[in-house]
Amino acid sequence: MIKFIKNISLLCGVHSPLLPLRNADLSSLPVISNAWLTIEGSEINGHGQMGIDEPVFNEKDPGIEMIDAGGGLVIPCWVDSHTHLVFAASRENEFVDKLHGLTYAQIAEKGGGILNSARKLNDTSEDELFLSAWTRLQELRALGTGSIEIKSGYGLTVESELKMLRVIRRLREKSGMLIKSTFLGAHTYPEQFRNDHESYIQLITEQMIPQIAAEKLADYIDVFCETGFFSKEETLRIGRAGINYGLKPKIHANQLNLSGGVQSGVELNAVSVDHLETMDDDAIECLANSSTIGTLLPSAAFFLRLPFQPARQLIDEGCAIALASDYNPGSSPSGNMNLVVSMACIGMKMMPEEAINAATINGAFAMEIQDQVGSITVGKKANIIITKPIPSLAYLPYSFGSNLISQVIINGDLV
Ligand code: NIG
Ligand code: FE
Repeated sequence: MIKFIKNISLLCGVHSPLLPLRNADLSSLPVISNAWLTIEGSEINGHGQMGIDEPVFNEKDPGIEMIDAGGGLVIPCWVDSHTHLVFAASRENEFVDKLHGLTYAQIAEKGGGILNSARKLNDTSEDELFLSAWTRLQELRALGTGSIEIKSGYGLTVESELKMLRVIRRLREKSGMLIKSTFLGAHTYPEQFRNDHESYIQLITEQMIPQIAAEKLADYIDVFCETGFFSKEETLRIGRAGINYGLKPKIHANQLNLSGGVQSGVELNAVSVDHLETMDDDAIECLANSSTIGTLLPSAAFFLRLPFQPARQLIDEGCAIALASDYNPGSSPSGNMNLVVSMACIGMKMMPEEAINAATINGAFAMEIQDQVGSITVGKKANIIITKPIPSLAYLPYSFGSNLISQVIINGDLV
């Protein structure tokens, strides 16, 4: 089956960089105006300019499906490289407590935070978890997310961490999407290990990791490297234990403090270090001189009222950056990548082209799927967003909060 999409006002992201985009290259988003695109099966199979090299199809041929973009733009689907999509319950009660002025510590005392999510997840069956995550995934697909990374980390016991990772595997199998799975047993210390870090680290390194590796349940290992959570040394130790079992690190770094998370991630040769709200010159230089991607999560900064990530400085110093949603019930209860791209422009002064590249091709590098998605390239997966007719590319982040999507195609299929 061939899909022929015609009358595309701007086909955006027609490139296939071999390395993550940095510096001025991040703003390079090659386009074809007045374009067409063909899809064969699940792959992009050709593109060009209407009236110039436009293929001729018989509209009555049952093997051809004509799609008129009607002057809309086509961009690659979002590649959301950092989410916690699997969780048992929302936490809007904590949100309201915070509006009433309660501090993070007071909320934790009331049993809130990550441990709250872990308690609820322990009481929820794998099937229930799968169903709620599946519903969220359907919503994100309709919002243009075509590939996604999902973390465990609300289990914090051997059984519950494995349960979360099995749910992620089922999401991958049922959706057919490119989904990468990350083991985040080191999200926080469970209550009984609060004063016995050594025993929990042993549980992670000696029981969880070997079992996860044996069942091939994860691609990556993550650690929340943060004051009051996991120290730099603990992060290195857990990261190395993961590497020994074939799990590459992706690290939660420098969200609330200069935690040393960036430096430990780079030392571990991590695929990415994520968050980066709190950066100093040393952390920026360390990241810029590495092949590790810095993944910025502006919706988490927005929701927690933290200063936005210093994207301009990171780009100017030569760091490779990606954008992701951090979708989770505590710090970013939205996985809407359209909003993430808007927030990157509004709050971090990224240019529209930079933000789109960071949320597509650089996100693909942060999931090591750059050969398959993230740009409009013949042979890559046909994961595209067709917008409503809009005046320009900049209109997308500019009109924040509007849904400008007309159609989404993932693996060649209309969503
Ligand atoms: O990425 N920072 C650590 N973990 C999550 C939020 C955890 C939670 O509150 O549930 C994050 O923001
Ligand atoms: Fe996160």
